[in-house]
Amino acid sequence: MTGKILVLGATGNVGRPLVRALVAKGEAVRAASRDGKPVEGADGVVFNILDPMTFPAAFDGVDRAFVMMPGGYTEAKALLPPVIEAAASRGVKVVFQSVLGVDADESIPYRQVEIALEKSGTPYVILRPNWFTDNFINYWKPGIDAAGVIAVPAADGKSSFIDVRDIADSAAAALTTDRFDGKAFNLTGPQALGYAEAAALISEAIGKPVAYQAIDDDAFVDNLVGAGVPEVYARFLASIFYPVRQGWTAVVTADVPTLTGHPARTVAAWVKDNAATLKG
Ligand SMILES: NC(=O)c1ccc[n+]([C@@H]2O[C@H](COP(=O)([O-])OP(=O)(O)OC[C@H]3O[C@@H](n4cnc5c(N)ncnc54)[C@H](OP(=O)(O)O)[C@@H]3O)[C@@H](O)[C@H]2O)c1
Repeated sequence: MTGKILVLGATGNVGRPLVRALVAKGEAVRAASRDGKPVEGADGVVFNILDPMTFPAAFDGVDRAFVMMPGGYTEAKALLPPVIEAAASRGVKVVFQSVLGVDADESIPYRQVEIALEKSGTPYVILRPNWFTDNFINYWKPGIDAAGVIAVPAADGKSSFIDVRDIADSAAAALTTDRFDGKAFNLTGPQALGYAEAAALISEAIGKPVAYQAIDDDAFVDNLVGAGVPEVYARFLASIFYPVRQGWTAVVTADVPTLTGHPARTVAAWVKDNAATLKG
């Protein structure tokens, strides 16, 4: 593997540390975003998942690609297959960021995208991350700042939250060797924590009380819509807390160490490394 690697969502949560990791490994990277600017020392290319006219310039001349759907979109089954087709028709290996648990049922849209990739004939690796630890900043920080509260419909469900740096390291490994081709990996942190335990860690780091408040789906949707989130996305986010309440997101796997050769980062380590942002 000596060609270029295309990274979709290169300015995003996983994309940015992935570009950084690949550049550090000496790989030639093409970083895709809607404005096409360079990212972390890598050349940029314009890519819009809503506009297939942008796909050829992104995929021509690369031999591997990190494929994901940006946050905020829910139409995986409509948006992702044309991207996979653009890769497969050029023989580009795809490392696909899916979602933990979607293999529970073949009717789940993300699982159908995985199946399309498996049948495409192009080399692939599927990565299924659990809930990102980074959501405590990206999604829940406004509640922490305003009221010292993380209010989500998780009941007492635990999750093995994963640090985006570990997803990026896993993707970098999958992109730079063929040892993992044709396989799927369930990416988790090293332990399952409840939201009250995570709130306590954050509270200690920022020196302010932070409490977990278990709320129901409707209250959660009302809060998000009040904060400007489109209702359809708020309802989607509420729906994905069902597996949390069922205890399904508490599973811990060894897939991060298998892919990266290092242990997955703890929530405590993430809180320490992100304390300044959590305080800010
Ligand atoms: N958050 C979680 O807990 C979690 C857990 C498991 C799986 N996932 C999955 O992970 C994915 C999100 O990953 P992430 O958080 O790394 O992504 P993200 O940060 O939300 O993605 C944003 C990136 O996508 C780009 N982008 C935005 N709109 C775009 C468009 N229309 N066309 C092309 N690029 C666009 C952004 O660049 P520009 O704005 O610069 O264009 C940016 O680079 C979702 O599919 C989600 O289902 C999330």
